[in-house]
Amino acid sequence: MKSLLSIFDIKDEVLEILGLAKDFKEKKIQGKPLEDKNLAMIFQKSSTRTRVSFEVGMNQLGGNALFLSNDDIQMGRGEPISDTAKVLSRYVDGIMIRAIEHADVVELVEEADIPIISGLTNLEHPCQVLTDMLTVHENFGNFNGKFSYVGDGNNVCNSLLLICACLGMDIAVGCPKGYEPNKEIIKKANKIAEKNNSYVIITDDVKVAVKHASVVYTDVWVSMGDEKDQNKRKKDFKKYQVNEELMNLADKDAIFMHCLPAIRGEEVSGEVIDGPHSVVIDQAENRLHTQKAVLYYFLK
Ligand code: CP
Ligand code: NVA
Repeated sequence: MKSLLSIFDIKDEVLEILGLAKDFKEKKIQGKPLEDKNLAMIFQKSSTRTRVSFEVGMNQLGGNALFLSNDDIQMGRGEPISDTAKVLSRYVDGIMIRAIEHADVVELVEEADIPIISGLTNLEHPCQVLTDMLTVHENFGNFNGKFSYVGDGNNVCNSLLLICACLGMDIAVGCPKGYEPNKEIIKKANKIAEKNNSYVIITDDVKVAVKHASVVYTDVWVSMGDEKDQNKRKKDFKKYQVNEELMNLADKDAIFMHCLPAIRGEEVSGEVIDGPHSVVIDQAENRLHTQKAVLYYFLK
């Protein structure tokens, strides 16, 4: 029994899961492989893509998904994670959780007897970046280009560092000082990248990060939970908007990616996200195919 909290948990299995996602997209896996399986989906934060792709994915695989909002379950009123983990382990076959604190999901894994899949924490967003790399592969047929992430060194950025390293794709993060990705994750990514002959660059010079990139990726400046610092953040990130001027530094065939939801006029200009380089809607569609791969891999 295995859980998915971090890309590090699947560092040697990323390609296999991406292969499954491609097979699901191309309808090469038929039938109802998760018939009679139930997935509990705990959400401590808002979601559109993660919730819908997991629920529809589970249904398409023949299983059933239960949406559990934190406001409605006893855990939201303080019931210990350990009791919740043990009880749910008797009812369902897996738990997908979008949590405020990564440490709470670590505890859930320790206490549960069933696979746990993270649908985002403050530290990582592993299912998102599996989707992202499926999208990169669809566009280029390989991972040979340079991946550029611009903006906040947040959960999505942390997972991107790890997955690029696992796939041997060079990654450059351009972020303001004080908003760098998690130190431990940078260390892990560097170690994996070294083995795979790729590089990890963290710089506050956004032009260095984007120059010659084949992928330019950004995410919101104010993640869920960071709202109290929003005025300061918006000032600090001002020079980090992905706009046409910045995109011009990337390869001419570069794609623009964003996990969504996006704020036009902040981290990305409308011209870029709604322009010819943008693949954000294909990327969002791929959440469904990738979620099916993840569910199949961890629950079957
Ligand atoms: N990208 C992503 O996780 O979207 P949601 O917050 O809508 O689930
Ligand atoms: N970094 C964003 C991702 C949303 C999918 C957040 O945590 O709010």
